[in-house]
Amino acid sequence: MEGVFAEELAELGVENPVVATRGVTFTADNDLLYRLNLWSRLALRFYRHVISFSIEKASDLYDGVNSHPWWREIGVDQTFRIDNTVYSDLFNNPLYAAQLAKDAIVDQFRSRFNKRPSVDKENPDYIILLTIRGKECSMYYDSSGEALFKRGYRLKAVAAPINEVLAAGILKLSRWNPTQPLIDPMCGSGTIPIEAALMGMNIPPAFSRQEFAFMKWPDFDRFLWKRIKDEVFKKQLDPELEIFGFDISEANLAIAAENIKHLRLHKDISLARADFLQLSPPADHGVVVMNPPYGQRLKTEHLIPLYQGIGNQLKKNFQGFDAWIISSDLDALKAISLKPRSKYTLYNGQLECRLHGFSMFRGTWNRRFETDQTP
Ligand SMILES: C[S@@+](CC[C@H](N)C(=O)[O-])C[C@H]1O[C@@H](n2cnc3c(N)ncnc32)[C@H](O)[C@@H]1O
Repeated sequence: MEGVFAEELAELGVENPVVATRGVTFTADNDLLYRLNLWSRLALRFYRHVISFSIEKASDLYDGVNSHPWWREIGVDQTFRIDNTVYSDLFNNPLYAAQLAKDAIVDQFRSRFNKRPSVDKENPDYIILLTIRGKECSMYYDSSGEALFKRGYRLKAVAAPINEVLAAGILKLSRWNPTQPLIDPMCGSGTIPIEAALMGMNIPPAFSRQEFAFMKWPDFDRFLWKRIKDEVFKKQLDPELEIFGFDISEANLAIAAENIKHLRLHKDISLARADFLQLSPPADHGVVVMNPPYGQRLKTEHLIPLYQGIGNQLKKNFQGFDAWIISSDLDALKAISLKPRSKYTLYNGQLECRLHGFSMFRGTWNRRFETDQTP
């Protein structure tokens, strides 16, 4: 998702975003950092870089961390936590690295103030990320706090909801544009239609969130934050959206309806109960985005007939549409028997998934697209 994420950042005002593995790096002032936390649909977190250094042996980590004046930024009565991603032969146990970094920080406070900030694992004032790749170490402040997929709008969810950031990312990858009809035939709690409606109306995904980690930083500018929040209303659009959510389960649809009503999007998203295998499309063109049940809870043999049915239904009744299907079950995806135009590997939380995109051409069926020849 890094490519579309960099595109999104550029649209939000980031200059020269540089794509890295599972992230994008760039320079921003506080104004931009606040805006990004509020407006980015694809970010999980934004980190502010603090320090980078190289080490030769494990104990060098202590001195590297200690070389930064943490006492200038963190209040002695504040709390912190260290998260870590450590891929290094120097540390068999990543927790040991985090422990060394913690000791370096608290020792600095102790020697200066004879007091130290406490560690709070649950709700700290500062979340510090320590990354070690081989001998290269970096430390960052997490500016977001709770991951940004926690939008704060979903009241309830079905058994296997899609992560909100992933839903938004799939919509970006699909190149859906809000003037086109959008159909989620297996909408569950309604995440994909909701993310689409928020995009179409230019409503920031985090507008319901009350807390971001940067609000506890000493340089937090509450007037700037208020101005950024106030601008939201001026930016909102009121287009005629054609967004449809269907589901075979009455109970799941009730959850979607509750979430959508809570957001006051019930006039923008149409919901109805339907079995996708019997569905007549509510428009003659558009984009289908679908997150069918997959293998974690259901065995593949139960899924194969469903996915075969999905392929047949797309071929028969959805000519003129683009269709995007995300699933973690590769065997089930193959049973769709259509050749994907695009393929992506994405993660729903920890679960590795594939997103396959299909173009359903009108008229004479091009044999090339009839079966999935790919391994
Ligand atoms: C993985 S969940 C979708 C989760 C959803 N994206 C969300 O964020 O909550 C799969 C959904 O497909 C629905 N479903 C299963 N078979 C179906 C069918 N034949 N027609 C329509 N919906 C179906 C299930 O009821 C379930 O809500």
